[in-house]
Amino acid sequence: MKYTMSTPESMCGIFGCIAPDAAGKVLEGLRKLEYRGYDSAGLAAIFTDHKGPIETERTTGYVSDLVNKANGRFDGARISIGHTRWATHGGVTDTNAHPHSSNDGTISVVHNGIIENASELLERVKNLGYDVQSETDSELIVHLLDHELKTQSRRKTPLDAFKSTVSLLRGSWAIAVIMTGMEAILVARNGAPLIIGRAHDSICIASDVQPFYGGCSEVAYMNDGDVFSITNEGILAPESTQTPDFITLEGVYEEQDSGIFEHMMLKEIFDQPVSLTNVLSGRISADGLRAELAGFDLDPEEMRNLDRINLVACGTAFFAAQIGVHFLRRHTGITVEAFRASEFPARSVCSPNSLTIGISQSGETKDTLDALQEARIAGGRISSFCNVIGSTIPRLTSNGAYLYAGPEFAVASTKVFSNMVAITLLLALTISEMPKTARTEIVQDLRELPNKVALNLKEDDGSLDKAVSILESANSAIFIGRGISAPLSQEGALKMMEVAYLPCLAYPGGELKHGPIALIEPGTPVIAIAPSDETLPLMESSIRECKTRGAKVILITDNEGPMLEFADVVLHTHSTGHDTSPIVNVIPLQLLAYRLGISKGLNVDRPRNLAKSVTVV
Ligand code: AGP
Repeated sequence: MKYTMSTPESMCGIFGCIAPDAAGKVLEGLRKLEYRGYDSAGLAAIFTDHKGPIETERTTGYVSDLVNKANGRFDGARISIGHTRWATHGGVTDTNAHPHSSNDGTISVVHNGIIENASELLERVKNLGYDVQSETDSELIVHLLDHELKTQSRRKTPLDAFKSTVSLLRGSWAIAVIMTGMEAILVARNGAPLIIGRAHDSICIASDVQPFYGGCSEVAYMNDGDVFSITNEGILAPESTQTPDFITLEGVYEEQDSGIFEHMMLKEIFDQPVSLTNVLSGRISADGLRAELAGFDLDPEEMRNLDRINLVACGTAFFAAQIGVHFLRRHTGITVEAFRASEFPARSVCSPNSLTIGISQSGETKDTLDALQEARIAGGRISSFCNVIGSTIPRLTSNGAYLYAGPEFAVASTKVFSNMVAITLLLALTISEMPKTARTEIVQDLRELPNKVALNLKEDDGSLDKAVSILESANSAIFIGRGISAPLSQEGALKMMEVAYLPCLAYPGGELKHGPIALIEPGTPVIAIAPSDETLPLMESSIRECKTRGAKVILITDNEGPMLEFADVVLHTHSTGHDTSPIVNVIPLQLLAYRLGISKGLNVDRPRNLAKSVTVV
């Protein structure tokens, strides 16, 4: 299946709707969008025959805090907009939370993105006599709009005033506005996502499709530059502008419900046997001998003739990309390199015969999106591997493959990492002309992978508890691996820092002696990933070097050899092939981070300062 459509994108979550119980729907929509940002939340609502100032409520904290503060006051509202915030301009305070209202309270605005000319506009707004209350760039929009409405000709509409206001802005935005006396929501998009959803009795807007599942059957994707008025009748555009068509909402409807698990992160770790089955499904031939990815503009022969492939990604997705580089180098002759998207040297590595593939769970990460756009400007081809169906990156690249991990709600990525690794292996198999026996072996490993992962998840001999107790008393930890396990050690360290706030270093085993070994003192935890592959003898040396200096070694391995005697704790994994080992070995790394976070009493699903979609640069 090829991706469809095209465009770019931002952070925070916006939800709005016109419906019989608009505010109830907004609070529910915000709950589903909370993973995008959770510093603060707020909503504004208009009732039938509403006069005077708009009802609003805002609070720092979670959507549940907003629900408590709202205390049913918004029940029965007809039109409502809401926002969950990840602070960029201004600290985390009630006043900086959205919506922001005009001085007379009759206009309310929510905004996602960054207004780059905010200083200039602040001067303008102050000179016009407005009382600016927050430290945000977003509040300026409401005052500019108020001024436009009061000064434009009488023949003009609120949509005209909104369009003129938007034309004053520079930067990125998704904006939604409600006004007393207006049976509509005004919306604008530029570099931050905004999608319109339609159900039989309501019309909604949201930052991504997630909150539409279970409510809306059709969606219309806004494009950059769009400025619309959303009413019960549909989408109204200013003269001579096109409105997007509604299309059927695709993808899997899944509630954000941890079920029998205590947290979403744990549920998603345990989802992996199923999510892996989904990414492999339809991509392994019926005879079980071949694996192939479809969905690219280029066929395998054309890919083999590329000058180079660049993989661009951030965070966890970048480590998956680095593992993908191992696969592509091992199995194809193509020059391939992984880049942190925020450091992508497009002009040096892109040409008409290069392919740059963006890897992203959310499909909205601004750094990755920018890297892909730079690759295209530099004349190269672009493609992507994303999880969220219909998100900005797959729509921009219009070819690539979905990860099919199902929605991932916990901020720390777990199941999607595994699917990213699996899909890069599928890409290598697609391009490679390796001998049949080697190919069959890898495909067999892939087929057995979901069960191997399930076995790893099931078996607990108490070693994990022992490893957690070593980490509980530590101030930092060092992760090491070699070859294909080197990027995996970085992923293990990232997960630990994200959910357990433990400062961690990750180094290829061989690099330790060139500096970081100076940090090891008696009791320093070293988490060593040592599968039975060609790097094992060298890993054994690295582990020995750590042990000799008093490290507490937590060893992740399928090996039963003499190396075990250097370990304080062994987290045994099931043997699998070289290429599939990162997916088996990531399980104890994920569980270790989760368990340490829990033992420290942390909110593992919503770690501090983070958000699920990082849509600012
Ligand atoms: C993963 O645990 C992190 N939350 C983060 O590093 C993430 O992988 C990164 O921001 C990229 O996100 P994406 O996959 O949505 O592009």
